[in-house]
Amino acid sequence: MEDTERLVAALGMVSPEWREAFRAVPRAAFLTRFFRPVAGGYAAIAAGDPGFASMVYRDSVLPTEIDDDDSLWDYAREHGPVDGVPTSSSSQPSLMGMMLDALGARPGHRVLEIGTGTGWNAALLCHRLGSAAVTTIDIDAALVARAREALAALGFTPAVDVADGANGYPPNAPYDRILATCAVATIPHAWVTQATVGGRILASIYGHLGAGTMPLLEVTAPGVAEGHVLATGSYFMPLRAQRLPDLLPRSSSPGVTRPTQVYLDSAAPWSALAELRLPGVAATNSGYDQWLLHSDGSWAHSDGDRVTQGGPRRLWDILESAHADWSAHGRPPRTAIHIRVDQTGQHTWLA
Ligand SMILES: C[S@@+](CC[C@H](N)C(=O)[O-])C[C@H]1O[C@@H](n2cnc3c(N)ncnc32)[C@H](O)[C@@H]1O
Repeated sequence: MEDTERLVAALGMVSPEWREAFRAVPRAAFLTRFFRPVAGGYAAIAAGDPGFASMVYRDSVLPTEIDDDDSLWDYAREHGPVDGVPTSSSSQPSLMGMMLDALGARPGHRVLEIGTGTGWNAALLCHRLGSAAVTTIDIDAALVARAREALAALGFTPAVDVADGANGYPPNAPYDRILATCAVATIPHAWVTQATVGGRILASIYGHLGAGTMPLLEVTAPGVAEGHVLATGSYFMPLRAQRLPDLLPRSSSPGVTRPTQVYLDSAAPWSALAELRLPGVAATNSGYDQWLLHSDGSWAHSDGDRVTQGGPRRLWDILESAHADWSAHGRPPRTAIHIRVDQTGQHTWLA
């Protein structure tokens, strides 16, 4: 089977309209350089390397930048694999297709994409909606320059800029659709005010508790958006400024101990609700020991039977209330989680 067809076949349930875009816009044009995980780190791969096409035309994530450092690819090419954390990647194609479908962007819509990365997703949008309808931004100037070049080589000329997605992108607002391909702790109100009434926002909420949610919102009135969480878990890389802070050493503030019957299980739907109610809170596990930590100094430690909490907020109480809420509603799937974003912030409840 031809490379592109192999990729299109792996897209799963993606609609014919978007399949056609995946067929027309080659992934390889945006992945002339990327990283492949190998023993000892990440190896630098370039177009033309043995196995290049089979790596690119596969339904998998391909890291393109490590540790925010664009020069590491050249370094790895010369000296061998580098260690580090991927900070930009070409997302899994089937997930991109699912998100494009859920976003419901059609010709005539104006779209803002937050997280340009390679530019491939922006190219798919340009192919279907026309370049004039698409704005794409990324915080990383080196990535933006490379993406702009790759887009232009295929004749796509969307607005591509270096900007912090936390603020949306006021110059080209309003948008009918806003798509974030990086994750946020909570949905910024700026996105809501920059979308048209009836417009949609699809984002990923970064899962410090490991639950990772993807809310799809509709703007119901100026400055107000409401919607629910999609069934798919979501583990996009967070906005740069919202990466997990180094929370160790753990707070030494005194704690209060009591019994608990709740145990955090990131696969359970109620954990997704808890995560939305505990933005920026990290969970760590070691056997039955679980810790919840926040940079404001709040902490909770459970040994499975008892929990000790300290600092300004009782994080375990919030976790337990999400569990209680979920039980009281008949233990629904995560799609029952509703979200509203307005000028007072982000609010969650179960339908
Ligand atoms: C998963 S990649 C996006 C993939 C991209 N859509 C593609 O088709 O290749 C996430 C991107 O989000 C970007 N990013 C991180 N923080 C950001 C921020 N505050 N504003 C805008 N982009 C950001 C990263 O630089 C990274 O390129």
